[in-house]
Amino acid sequence: MNAGIVGMGTYVPEGVLTNADLEKIVDVSNDWIIERTGIRERRIAEPEQATSDLAVIAGERALADAGVDPLEVDLIIVCTNTADMTFPATACLVQERLGARRAAAFDLVAGCTGFVYGVGLSSQFIATGAYRTVLVIGAETLSRVINYQDRNICVLFGDGAGAAVLRPVASSSGILAFRLWADGAGAPFLTLPAGGSRMPTSQETVDKKLHYATMNGREIFKFAVRTLGEAALEVLTMAGFNQSDIDFLVPHQANIRIIEAAARRLNLPMEKVMVNVDCYGNTSTASIPLALHEALQEGRIKGGDLIVIVSFGTGLTWGALVIKWPDGKN
Ligand code: UT7
Repeated sequence: MNAGIVGMGTYVPEGVLTNADLEKIVDVSNDWIIERTGIRERRIAEPEQATSDLAVIAGERALADAGVDPLEVDLIIVCTNTADMTFPATACLVQERLGARRAAAFDLVAGCTGFVYGVGLSSQFIATGAYRTVLVIGAETLSRVINYQDRNICVLFGDGAGAAVLRPVASSSGILAFRLWADGAGAPFLTLPAGGSRMPTSQETVDKKLHYATMNGREIFKFAVRTLGEAALEVLTMAGFNQSDIDFLVPHQANIRIIEAAARRLNLPMEKVMVNVDCYGNTSTASIPLALHEALQEGRIKGGDLIVIVSFGTGLTWGALVIKWPDGKN
């Protein structure tokens, strides 16, 4: 049995942080941000909104879109790098709020590739028959771990959530192939140093601002440009297709230059590539579902289209999916 996405939902907080707002708080310019990243604005959660709050709204919308009752959900995976708490899993908080009392629930941490990891994993539970209905959610409140005085990082990230309901679909459609990769040698390139077992939170870690994310942007940029196109090609080959068969590409929304490099490697015109990084910045695990859902709503993906989804993130991790979009809903 192939797994397919049979419903989606998203949520972004109302608060908008524009490049002009950032110009007032740190030494950056609108022109630099647009030229180097393509980002114009990002959404920022209200102080009382935690990651689970965003995840619940996206999850409810995805279930409604799929016409699935919460009691039919067998498994909830919340892919996030900004859990409400170190433990318990944010997925358990979401399970309770959704009333999905039959569902198993766990969190998945795979950097910005989390949603692709989550969908790949879910497709296996469905393929084996272990589960029939899986809810995968990518949700982040990255604004909580960003130092808005650090211009190397604060221009990039935003908050948001997106969710997908996966169910068995006809074997000619749905997720035809996926592959997930990791290279821990690149782990130092993007970390949140304090608050874990290596460096428990202390007055000193707070004074040194080690409770904020730190990033070597240039190294991640080079890795992403090297990797995204190749990952897409490999997974297409696994599914028995080649690059000319791609109807639409949904890449991780991190930087317009990275997206354009992937499109060039795949010989794809930008009309066949989803871009909304300008509106949301990099929302990490929410980026792919926000982009995919918007593409669906805009009618840019039709039943029967061959979609490639490709992402990368801290870890380092990267992954790709080939989906034949189902005709109608199961
Ligand atoms: O999901 C994974 C998460 N991470 C990423 O996706 C990050 C990937 N990396 C990137 O997107 C890019 O590397 C950045 C957008 C972070 C940086 O762009 P870049 O073209 O690699 O710039 P750079 O780091 O090479 O810096 C160029 C210059 C530097 O000045 P000098 O050394 O040339 O004098 C920086 O100090 O730009 C300066 N700079 C800035 N200037 C204005 C760096 N950040 C800023 C800024 N505003 N925000």
